[in-house]
Amino acid sequence: MVNPNRLWERLQKLSAIGATENGGVTRLSFTKEEREAKKLVASFMKEAGLSVREDEVGNLIGRREGISAGAPAVLTGSHIDSVYDGGNFDGPLGVIAAIEAVQTFEEEGIATEHPIEVIVFTDEEGARFSFGMIGSRGLAGILTREELENRDRQGISIAEAMAENGMDPEKYKDAARKKGGDVKAYIEVHIEQGKVLEREGLSVGVVSGLAGPLWLKFTVDGEAGHAGNTPMVGRHDAMVAASKMIVAIEEEVKRIGSTVGTVGQLQIFPGGINIIPGKVEFSLDLRDINEETRDKAEQAILQRSKAIAEEHGVRLSVEDLQRIPPAPCSKEIQQAATEVLEENGMRAVTLPSGAGHDGMQFTNFCPIGMLFVRSKGGISHDPAEWSSKEDCADGAKVLCGTLKKLAVATSEVKSN
Ligand code: HGY
Ligand code: MN
Ligand code: MN
Repeated sequence: MVNPNRLWERLQKLSAIGATENGGVTRLSFTKEEREAKKLVASFMKEAGLSVREDEVGNLIGRREGISAGAPAVLTGSHIDSVYDGGNFDGPLGVIAAIEAVQTFEEEGIATEHPIEVIVFTDEEGARFSFGMIGSRGLAGILTREELENRDRQGISIAEAMAENGMDPEKYKDAARKKGGDVKAYIEVHIEQGKVLEREGLSVGVVSGLAGPLWLKFTVDGEAGHAGNTPMVGRHDAMVAASKMIVAIEEEVKRIGSTVGTVGQLQIFPGGINIIPGKVEFSLDLRDINEETRDKAEQAILQRSKAIAEEHGVRLSVEDLQRIPPAPCSKEIQQAATEVLEENGMRAVTLPSGAGHDGMQFTNFCPIGMLFVRSKGGISHDPAEWSSKEDCADGAKVLCGTLKKLAVATSEVKSN
């Protein structure tokens, strides 16, 4: 049986690293907080009997051998990096629940045909470099050298941050696993970050698919000037134009209905109280479970933004930061998880994920599955993010059962 106390204690220990004043966490990739957290998680992996290593893009990997030589591995895990002032469950629950599942196998002497790997993926959130899922892209062999040139607010690139952490960014390709060879499937436990399970009164749900995030950077170039001496007519105020574009974004996504659009970052230049803004940069996070619908929303937004730019005599440029297609979850894994829920007397519901997760980098690599755990009030990316100890343990329990099916648990007892 999974051990809820152990799981909960490990979550608490992890949440102390990078803790913020208001009970949240800021643990960005390639920082000392992340290194400290990795060290702690590696110690949990060793306690669970896993052999631990780090690959060329910083993924922390704990492996438990199977009994069938050469059998492809079943991967599980999640991430321990966070957004700025995020919550303590987004990512850590998936890692700690995975360790708990394999430690339970170890304690109960359960052998599996396939090896199981618990993975802590590097930089899932993309908070530091406005580019994320670096580790999972590396493992799936789709990460590019150019992507390692994305920079943080201090102008440090991913490649430079890797080098500062003792890694050789030129070796990123060595992290790639052989498609159709090394990996059988990927399954992740994650908090729902929504209200469906709470509404349904359920602790765990099965994910049907993941919405695809598109991250864009808008740059509006206008004309700076004196706030006092410049008449309103004839101004090329980048902030006024940007504001209208942001309103247009909300109107367009609401008109389409299923798409969501968020402007989470905005910067005004030169940013003086008595200076007409000459340049504004803002980000757009656009998502939909249907790629065509998302792209239609993108086109509508670009069209309206271009018209607004013309109206205000400002220049608009839009740059792709990250474009990830929606990812369907494997029917077989959904079925296996549903059976486990029912075998445990739990009602099985299936729901889509509005949030993105590392598994979506594996769509052309291996079948993926996800288990959601109830989130209080659907809150996430916020210190108030919360899931109960019981629900977290349920997530680990259902993961245990699903891993037994995917990795093919045998009656043979594994010798320690
Ligand atoms: O952005 C996301 O969807 C996730 O939290 N990484
Ligand atoms: Mn997450
Ligand atoms: Mn997140």
